[in-house]
Amino acid sequence: MTWDADRYDRDQGFVSAYGRSLESFVPDDTDALLDLGCGTGTLTAELARRIPHVVGVDASTSMIDRARREHPGVEFHVADALDLPYDGDFDVVFSNAVFHWIHDHGTLLANVRRTLRPGGRLVCEFGARGNIARIDAAMGRAMRRRGLDIAVRFTFPGDDEFRRSLDSAGFRGIDVTSYDRPTPLGGGEAGLSSWLRQFYADDLAQVDEDERQAVIAEVEDGLRDDLWDASRGCWVADYRRLRAVAVR
Ligand SMILES: C[S@@+](CC[C@H](N)C(=O)[O-])C[C@H]1O[C@@H](n2cnc3c(N)ncnc32)[C@H](O)[C@@H]1O
Repeated sequence: MTWDADRYDRDQGFVSAYGRSLESFVPDDTDALLDLGCGTGTLTAELARRIPHVVGVDASTSMIDRARREHPGVEFHVADALDLPYDGDFDVVFSNAVFHWIHDHGTLLANVRRTLRPGGRLVCEFGARGNIARIDAAMGRAMRRRGLDIAVRFTFPGDDEFRRSLDSAGFRGIDVTSYDRPTPLGGGEAGLSSWLRQFYADDLAQVDEDERQAVIAEVEDGLRDDLWDASRGCWVADYRRLRAVAVR
């Protein structure tokens, strides 16, 4: 998937805003932290204020370019979570809203484990089983009506499944929990449209702009009863999150 870093910061600022609560799981005596899938670096820069050595990595050059521009004092690199160039270098691997983009959790967790010092910890949060189920179903229906399909791009594991993945990768002290987190989208009436254009960009690219608008309008119509909050004037996405802490 191609990331639009400007749209991300303008319309999806809530992603890092929610990630802030994850920062409390980072121990105070952390010396070196890797922010894995750091995006435009908002949380990386915050963590760098209290941790001596912080590095942000992301697979997207557009995200890293913007992170470097926005936070010139922080170290950022382009790197794939499935091929990390580290070996026992960090006390904490921190990751917010990233693991659901990666299908191969076995290889991912092997990379995370190798990146950590013995006794170091993974602190992560991402989409849990059932995340955005209604939005995904509505998008699938609208595309199938046009003889097209949507890609299975997300991996949303259940608690037991992710616990087993951590265990198989050799982690201990595993704590996994998931919860519903209905998430108001910014942008008022246009909020869902902007969100779909970011997260379903590749699917929507299968049709021209007129048809794209028709697909989005259908999705909005189908979801309005459930996900439009008239009192607040915003769409509320049916997010469900999984939070995990585990020790190497
Ligand atoms: C929703 S953004 C979250 C960004 C940031 N963590 C935040 O809280 O704002 C997901 C990020 O994961 C990155 N990502 C997805 N797959 C990746 C991979 N295999 N390796 C590294 N980064 C990846 C994307 O490029 C994107 O920047």
